[in-house]
Amino acid sequence: MQYNPYLRFIPTLIFMLLLNWSSAQKTSVQNIDTNIEALMKKMTLDEKIGQLLQVPGDISTGTDVQSDDLLKQVKTGMIGSILSHTNFDNKIKIQRAAMESRLKIPIIFGFDVIHGYKTIFPIPLAQAATWDIDLIERIERIAATEAGADGQNWTFAPMVDISRDPRWGRVMEGAGEDPFLGSQIAAARVRGIQGNDLADKTTLAACVKHFAGYGFTEGGRDYNTVDMSEQRLRNIVLPPFKAAADAGAATFMNAFNTLNGVPASMDKHLVTDILRDEWAWNGLVVSDWNSFGETIIHGAADNEMDAAAKCLNAGSDMDMTATTFRNGLKKALENKRVTQEKIDEAVRRVLRLKFQLGLFDDPFRQLDPTYREATLEKPEYRDLARKAAAESMVLLKNEGGLLPLTPEGPFRRIAIIGPYANSKGHKDYMSFWTLGLGMREYDSTKVVTPADVLKPFLEKQGFEVTVTEICLDATCSERDYSAARTASQQADLVIVCVGEQGFQCGESRSVASLELNNDQENIARYLYPRKPVVLVMFNSRPMVFPKAYEKASAVLLAWQPGFETGNALNDVLSGKVNPSGKLPMTFPRNEGQIPIYYNHLNTGRPQQDQGQMWTSGYLDSPVSPAFPFGYGMSYTNFSYSEITLNKSKIRPGETLEVSVTVTNTGEVAGSEVVQLYIQDLSADIARPVKELKGFEKISLEKGAQKRVTFKITDKDLAYWNNELQYKADPGFFKVYVGGDSRYVKSNSFELQAQ
Ligand code: NOJ
Repeated sequence: MQYNPYLRFIPTLIFMLLLNWSSAQKTSVQNIDTNIEALMKKMTLDEKIGQLLQVPGDISTGTDVQSDDLLKQVKTGMIGSILSHTNFDNKIKIQRAAMESRLKIPIIFGFDVIHGYKTIFPIPLAQAATWDIDLIERIERIAATEAGADGQNWTFAPMVDISRDPRWGRVMEGAGEDPFLGSQIAAARVRGIQGNDLADKTTLAACVKHFAGYGFTEGGRDYNTVDMSEQRLRNIVLPPFKAAADAGAATFMNAFNTLNGVPASMDKHLVTDILRDEWAWNGLVVSDWNSFGETIIHGAADNEMDAAAKCLNAGSDMDMTATTFRNGLKKALENKRVTQEKIDEAVRRVLRLKFQLGLFDDPFRQLDPTYREATLEKPEYRDLARKAAAESMVLLKNEGGLLPLTPEGPFRRIAIIGPYANSKGHKDYMSFWTLGLGMREYDSTKVVTPADVLKPFLEKQGFEVTVTEICLDATCSERDYSAARTASQQADLVIVCVGEQGFQCGESRSVASLELNNDQENIARYLYPRKPVVLVMFNSRPMVFPKAYEKASAVLLAWQPGFETGNALNDVLSGKVNPSGKLPMTFPRNEGQIPIYYNHLNTGRPQQDQGQMWTSGYLDSPVSPAFPFGYGMSYTNFSYSEITLNKSKIRPGETLEVSVTVTNTGEVAGSEVVQLYIQDLSADIARPVKELKGFEKISLEKGAQKRVTFKITDKDLAYWNNELQYKADPGFFKVYVGGDSRYVKSNSFELQAQ
């Protein structure tokens, strides 16, 4: 008899049938509260505390088979959730153990699904560079579908932290520096993850993180201190969180950092006053990894009892890693540091989430082996991964229209060189997220490298192509440089693939220098003179690469593009896809300019030119960035008409229409992100020189034009002032429209008092 791999799941199926969990018995939303109360009545204190504990799974414990101890704890109802667990069969065993517990409360499995689950998409920062909100939502739909099919119920995403500091390794995980773009993306990611129904098999509960301020960590050092005014917090940091909450995000995660001296996990002002009361959001708040326990290391709690009390009383519910609540919460109750009501509130939130996810109706709904096989890694997922990777690429330079590379061009012999020319290694392309705990391995054979695709594609078109992998070790050696020189000597054009490896970004991957490491920037210096160079950058953050930029005729920022790296790169280099990516973060000229961001205040002495004394600048550097926010070129050109306004004055409630005509004046079709910024010239406090308030991505055939109209009301002009009022100040505003945050058309209008 032939071995049928599915036979081993028969016991599970029988078990499920016996217990008769059918979706026909789905708990209605109305019944959830009644069911929660019925359960609460039966629960002991230990069982209640158990629901507030989330323990690490195999990815961090390194064990493939679940220990008897864990199963025992699950069977006695002492665990509510498990995070970062990969082994599918063991998840079934664990859930079965939960079903053997007294109250049969299902386990909820949480996982970091950062840019795809099995099918790996470009990193989130790259996705943000598409400015394609619908695309980002579709990526999350696929990621959630795959993760759900593999037994995950909850993802620790989206990360919506705004950051102005590329030294911080986690900028790769967010949407960049802008609260408006960040808010659109945060909401889209929540919609993509959660779909229309949390109980659907293809959806997960989203977890919006890290609440709050984490991206403003001093010096860009992960986990470091954050201190900022409340108006900055509300104007810059909180909007994407609010957008995610409004989009229905089921859960939030605390941040590791202190905010104005208070560890975020025990910050009542953040978690209760703002999130729960002001925003009327009633979901579950989970700590970050031991962030309850770290309140003691911060020096803001005496011991585990104190920490548990402070975090629970602040409004946080579940302890990721479990130690603090396990050791401290009962004691806190005994010592009257917390009330039973407060514990019950948190337990109710955990139970509610499990009901909403349909786990009580069918605890195995995402643990179905047949569904899993049929759902993971469908070819169409890769099509979207390819589209997303190509759309995220940003063209930074294209002298003399060197790109795209076509057979009609003057070059015959092409050398592809560099550490990323043909790299499939699991450390490249950020195909996993480095948890800082261990790495989620993936099947590296699934990465399509640049050489895999470019070489055969170009050869078919009559080019001669060589691939020279260099600088694969810690540094570029003389041998590497001389290989680069020889390869370039024998070529008419050189494609240099440089950048960062996956493990160089992410949690705990802050850097002091943004230069291309391993001497990669010097590769350009060793190339044979006068050979045109196309520089392809695999970055996970804004980097500083002046020498390589200078040497190159064309520079394409490819980010960490995921599984479809080679195909997407080929699509862009060949012109099949016209690049349309725009930077979601400012690229500095040097680290000394950090923090650098487009929506800064003007100062009383803004500098125009470097060296202008008594103005706000540096003696040894311009203040302007290498590339501004919103920047990105195309193989075609777009011209913008002057801005027309339907009126020059508006009153509160009235709508201002801001229109431009965009024309494709080049030779090929292309897409452009039309960006709208405003500037408040006479507010009660100083306001940014520009703030993004709208954008539209349009596609135009060669010679075609489109009228783009943005609508503005006083709501778009409102901001938080220092009295913590959210309002628009009557007075004069400038409005800007353009293809990036620097080169824009402008006009002005007045907001009149009511
Ligand atoms: C720590 C990270 O800060 C957080 O974002 C992540 O979700 C957890 N670890 C779990 O892996």
